[in-house]
Amino acid sequence: SDVQRVDALIAKMTIEEKAGQMTCLADSFRPFNPPNPQVGIQDEKRLSDEVRRGRVGCLFNGIGVAGARRAQDIAVKDSRLGIPLLFAGDVIHGLKTIFPVPLGESSCFDPSMVERTARAMAIEATAAGLHLTFAPMVDVARDQRWGRVVEGAGEDVTLTGLLSAARIRGFQGRDLRRDDSLLACPKHFAAYGAVAAGLEYGNVDISEETLRETHLPPFGKAFAAGALTTMAAFNEINGVPATADGELLTDILRGEMRFRGFVFSDYTADEELVAHGFAEDDRDAARLAVLAGVDMSMQSGLYIRYLPDLVKSGAVPMGTIDVAVRRILYVKSAIGLFDNPYRSLNEEAEKTRIYTSSHRALARESAARSVVLLKNDGVLPIDPAKGQRIALIGPFAEDRANIYGPWAFYGDPDKGVDIAAGLRAALPDPSKLSVTRGSDISGAIDGGIAAAVDAAKAADFVLLAIGESQAMSGEAQSRTMIEIPAAQQALADAVVATGKPVAVLLRHGRALALHDGVANANAILATWFLGSEAGNAIADIILGKVDPSAKLPVSFPWESGQEPFYYDRKSTGRPVVDNGSSEYKARYATTDNSARFPFGHGLSYTEFAIDQLKLSDAALRWDAAIEVTARITNKGQRKGSEVVQLYTRDRVASRTRPIRELKRMERITLSPGESRTVRFSLSRTDLEFVGARNQRVAEPGVFDLWIGQSSVGGLHAQFTLYAEVKA
Ligand code: IFM
Repeated sequence: SDVQRVDALIAKMTIEEKAGQMTCLADSFRPFNPPNPQVGIQDEKRLSDEVRRGRVGCLFNGIGVAGARRAQDIAVKDSRLGIPLLFAGDVIHGLKTIFPVPLGESSCFDPSMVERTARAMAIEATAAGLHLTFAPMVDVARDQRWGRVVEGAGEDVTLTGLLSAARIRGFQGRDLRRDDSLLACPKHFAAYGAVAAGLEYGNVDISEETLRETHLPPFGKAFAAGALTTMAAFNEINGVPATADGELLTDILRGEMRFRGFVFSDYTADEELVAHGFAEDDRDAARLAVLAGVDMSMQSGLYIRYLPDLVKSGAVPMGTIDVAVRRILYVKSAIGLFDNPYRSLNEEAEKTRIYTSSHRALARESAARSVVLLKNDGVLPIDPAKGQRIALIGPFAEDRANIYGPWAFYGDPDKGVDIAAGLRAALPDPSKLSVTRGSDISGAIDGGIAAAVDAAKAADFVLLAIGESQAMSGEAQSRTMIEIPAAQQALADAVVATGKPVAVLLRHGRALALHDGVANANAILATWFLGSEAGNAIADIILGKVDPSAKLPVSFPWESGQEPFYYDRKSTGRPVVDNGSSEYKARYATTDNSARFPFGHGLSYTEFAIDQLKLSDAALRWDAAIEVTARITNKGQRKGSEVVQLYTRDRVASRTRPIRELKRMERITLSPGESRTVRFSLSRTDLEFVGARNQRVAEPGVFDLWIGQSSVGGLHAQFTLYAEVKA
């Protein structure tokens, strides 16, 4: 069995070989080769020696079968015990076929959609010789200044949990031993999304309640979906860096959450314990990380350097090392590496399974499903048959450098479809399309605005492609302001002032605070970074071939200064209430603390109405469930899809509860005039929260319930949870 095989191996291993299995280094065998200054191993020859001596167990961020085969040959044939290497990489939203950035794709509010794209990514990644992806990012991100918002599923706990689990099912497939199954690594454990003021790598100071209520649950869903690895976060939590936090990595992760896989450190995060002011030196850092529960050290080389001596000196028990090595070898065994070290190293698959037409078609579908129609006064869709003259204006109009988004470094930058190319391919008469840059991303172009205004005046319709470059979000890209760069704002103001109908196509990796010309445009679409098929998908939406059906996974505030901002806030003692005075209430002096576009918001070209909200019972008994039904009708003239959302509020509790919490959602597609009844079942466990002594509890009492099309408004009902009846 796997267990016996692993134990037999451990019995034969030297402490150095064990530390080697616990070491993960950047791959130098393959074309994509990030610098590796920390360990000074930057060439294949030196890394080969390490592999031969059993001093490394995992290589990361290289792709290509030939290089992987060379490395695996050395591990299997030349190292003393022949333990195969694990190949890992950051396949965050695609390898060669690039899908929308995870935040954008999460706008589909549809687990089955993200599961399909994750499967396609896994097929490509494994065909390129990878066994594991450092994804999905399951951090709940509540401050849009944080650059890594782009990598997750947004601000909501329930949505993040559902989509993360679906992504993991997609990556791993049904059988881990298949050559196209890609191990997932939900990250970053934990609370990275809560860094103070959105400052990258910053500190987290949160209550245990918030940690358990908001940041841990998506990991629970990820592990339940079968994830066998995770990654410790860079940040400290309440004074203890996650990488050295035994309570977090052992008591909570293993004891409470029953995680059975292995834990990576993040890139050099063990070494960084020194800069945190938590470890005295590198040796101490290695000791603290391994004792806390970090099984695999990424990139610093600290484990191979210090663990042998730490064990010899008695500072780290051999038992701790054996447990870590067992976890790592068990995962290698679970994916069939001991039976076939060359699994996923298939030259034929590498040629045929990557960048296929079916993956491109899926990329186009998921990209169109990611576009959120934030505002539309009726100008969209454009009817191509009318032959209107369209002015496409802005730095993202004809630009392939910013359609993939961050973390798509394996994608071929020349292959993606930009907006101009997508529209030219879709319009019956492409000569009716003019393209004008107008402005650079962060600076004005001489005469740019004048040219753009001329182009707008000469057209019947303007599409304004503005926003963030792909370098403005992602790791190490926190921003103090979440606004359109000034030069582009000036461009937008001038173009909108022409009075021509304008649809803004936002390019972005986070929620934005929109102002003036941008906010006043006739239509606004959130188009994120949509990947390989960006331009085609945007054309599909603009020209009405696909009806927009996506919903915001993050709230768009009025101003940057509202951040951190999210819909499931607490009430406060002085909430602003509808039609009430806002004097001496919980609001900013100059801005309402509401959203410009709330979480869950997203329009369609057709119109939906929800009515007939019914509860099977207004009383929810302790061990029973109630059924909530409502009718949704397509009142418009076109076929379309709506995401029906169910929110609740616990009116009175021993710890105050948010004003709303998403509990259920369902995407429904309806023809004009068609109606459907949606059904949701709710039970006590849906109403649990982190109560006294940090236990999950549900408390009897009255609950509000809304069924609606966003986190604001909707049909309202209430029900009562009754206490357990003890015999
Ligand atoms: O997976 C990433 C992580 O999210 C951030 N630091 C680097 C890792 C490996 O590239």
